Amino acid sequence: MIKPHGGLLINRMNEDHKIDEKHKQVQLDALALSDLELLANGAFSPLTGFMNENDYESVIHNMRLKNGLPWSIPITLPVTEDKGSQIEVGETINLVYKNNIYGVMTVKDIFTPNKTIEAQKVYQTTDINHPGVKKLMERPTTYLGGPITMVQSPKRNKFKEYYITPSETREQFNQKGWETIVGFQTRNPIHRAHEYIQKSALETVDGLFIHPLVGETKPGDVPSELRMACYQILLDHYYPNDRVFLSVFPAAMRYAGPREAVFHALVRKNYGCSHFIVGRDHAGVGDYYGTYDAQKIFQNFDDEEIGIQILCFENSFYCKKCESMSTAKTCPHSKKDHISLSGTKVRSMLREGIMPPKEFSRPEVAAELIEGMNKNVTEANQ
Ligand code: ADX
Repeated sequence: MIKPHGGLLINRMNEDHKIDEKHKQVQLDALALSDLELLANGAFSPLTGFMNENDYESVIHNMRLKNGLPWSIPITLPVTEDKGSQIEVGETINLVYKNNIYGVMTVKDIFTPNKTIEAQKVYQTTDINHPGVKKLMERPTTYLGGPITMVQSPKRNKFKEYYITPSETREQFNQKGWETIVGFQTRNPIHRAHEYIQKSALETVDGLFIHPLVGETKPGDVPSELRMACYQILLDHYYPNDRVFLSVFPAAMRYAGPREAVFHALVRKNYGCSHFIVGRDHAGVGDYYGTYDAQKIFQNFDDEEIGIQILCFENSFYCKKCESMSTAKTCPHSKKDHISLSGTKVRSMLREGIMPPKEFSRPEVAAELIEGMNKNVTEANQ
């Protein structure tokens, strides 16, 4: 089976760890709690904690950790300047979310980042309308770095059985006898283009690992429980059970396009995937990135140092003349024969209760989305 990034799967989960309640507390936001969990369960291997300044600077400027390994997204723990000034290097702190201690960290570094540079390098923009930049700028201004231990996992009240750690997915893949596994990242409800690229990839490997991101997403994105319900429908009716494995990725969405594609791929390698799908505008938002920038970024690395094989897909659509899903690579017909709808257009159709064409979305999935989205609106208005 493929080796984790850096060679070893990190495990920094220890429920028996003795917490000292007298240690200073640092409050986590939802993003930091999610990062803590992914650091602890090895999804972020080889990282063992929140980044110190050396790694942070190296990641920002070179897309590599200080030791040279590729890594494209900073994993940081921001606190207020005031809080930062009360903490000293060498101290152990308790990491708290909503009055629960979830972990501890030995502080190795305290530093003030230049967030304008971070935004420009990671998101390629400083525009505050970009959801990743907005989040970055809203968070406090001092970063703490150091190794962590997680002492309890976050409580889940939805699709509990789908939260599976990298060591567990590796075990599952082994048991199934899969040697080659393609990972699929997604934050949107499944549509025919997703299905097409997943199944095209599956033609060439042993198993498909569908791994929807269920951490924080921006307002307007479809809630994770609804997306999972859509996946369940498809798996029940249109996918071979013995060749597909569904679990969730409890990370927050950064919307960092190309940089996030590299990060998504490395993390799926840690989950045990040998291949990873990057389609059009992967992890993109608005018009901040070129359609295929998230594929081109991999040219900055040697194949061996990324380790996981990237499967690139062109923009896929249904062609009425071909009578099948196609791409510019396989279809000779003109745009007017293609059924292509933007995410925004589809969401507004669904909210109005209008079914998108069956060539865009399977009707069972569209029906589930219409019901779910309208239920959400009704609940929000109550
Ligand atoms: S993402 O933010 O997680 O990338 P999304 O869930 O829409 O968003 O996409 C999941 C994966 O499918 C990404 O690799 C993306 O590039 C790819 N993808 C989405 N739609 C298409 C499409 N029409 N054609 C080709 N690839 C696509």
